[in-house]
Amino acid sequence: MIHTKRQIRKHFLGIIFFILICSLIGCSAQKKKVSQFDEDHGIIVGFSQIGAESAWRTCNTRSVQDAAAEKGVQLVYDNAEQKQENQIKAIRSFIAYQVDVIVFVPIVTDGWDNVLQEAQDAGIPVLVTDRKIDVADPSLYAGFIGTDSLKEGRNAGLFVLDKFTNKRDHLDQTKEYINIVELFGTEGSSVANGRAEGFREVLKDHPEFRIVYSKSGDFLRSKGYELAVEFLDMHEDIDVIYSHNDGMTLGAIEAMEERGLRPGTDIVIVTIDAQQAAIDALREGKVNCVIECNPKTGPEIIKLAERLAAGETIPRVQYVHEEVFYETDDLSLIEPRGY
Ligand code: AHR
Repeated sequence: MIHTKRQIRKHFLGIIFFILICSLIGCSAQKKKVSQFDEDHGIIVGFSQIGAESAWRTCNTRSVQDAAAEKGVQLVYDNAEQKQENQIKAIRSFIAYQVDVIVFVPIVTDGWDNVLQEAQDAGIPVLVTDRKIDVADPSLYAGFIGTDSLKEGRNAGLFVLDKFTNKRDHLDQTKEYINIVELFGTEGSSVANGRAEGFREVLKDHPEFRIVYSKSGDFLRSKGYELAVEFLDMHEDIDVIYSHNDGMTLGAIEAMEERGLRPGTDIVIVTIDAQQAAIDALREGKVNCVIECNPKTGPEIIKLAERLAAGETIPRVQYVHEEVFYETDDLSLIEPRGY
């Protein structure tokens, strides 16, 4: 279908060009008309999203779709249902359609070299967004725009360090160890790896902080609940839950409350994303720190895609603005999140 639209567009351009030659009308005004025609119809962007595993992800998809619609960009959207093989298939179909630019959210870091080589051979620029990739030849993609997951992990570590050292007066002074549970995101994804690495980096010189449990909940609320049931059975003395996303946090809170535990009081909770439900939990004292991961990257993604389609070079790495919300902040100032 898209292929047909491209052909129609090319035919139209050909007809306009023919009319221009035949009528021998002055070039400049007519040239302007041709380029105006092109601008009106926009570029074609193939967008491979990984799925709809969280409120964050749904917002991210909407942001890209809305920005494309606003700019008159034709978006060929594919939902990979959490499977890398589906993403590879989608990218191959974008190449077959001869889209102008490919944008994709890589579910994991590895395994993209071959398909990106195919895109490069077809002369289609690729923009990586949200999660990073590892490829042998960095020229296989034009640039990255998204979150700084290492920084998010560091911010989580700094909050825990501060909470249990500088502000320890209201916490148990006699504890030898601070026991931490980590709800890990999707294994092999750059965001989960960055969040884990940044957190450990901050705490590495503080041996009293120890991670006693770390498992992947795949960024899913249901798995966050299941893991919490498991770790609460295994460990009686948990001090901190560090969760790689709000969905898993909300599942864990549910499991805690079913046991009569008070989230945010009996166990300190730090979570990433900053969806509305997590901000509400912060206001209720059920969460102690919320680190924003900004999903509203659509307008910037579309801008970069247009630049790539015009043959421009874009920045290699572009991080989006992200905030941290602490329990001690004036929480009434936080604007509605929209996801
Ligand atoms: O890649 C970003 C992460 O993926 C978000 O933190 C999470 O909610 C999402 O599913």
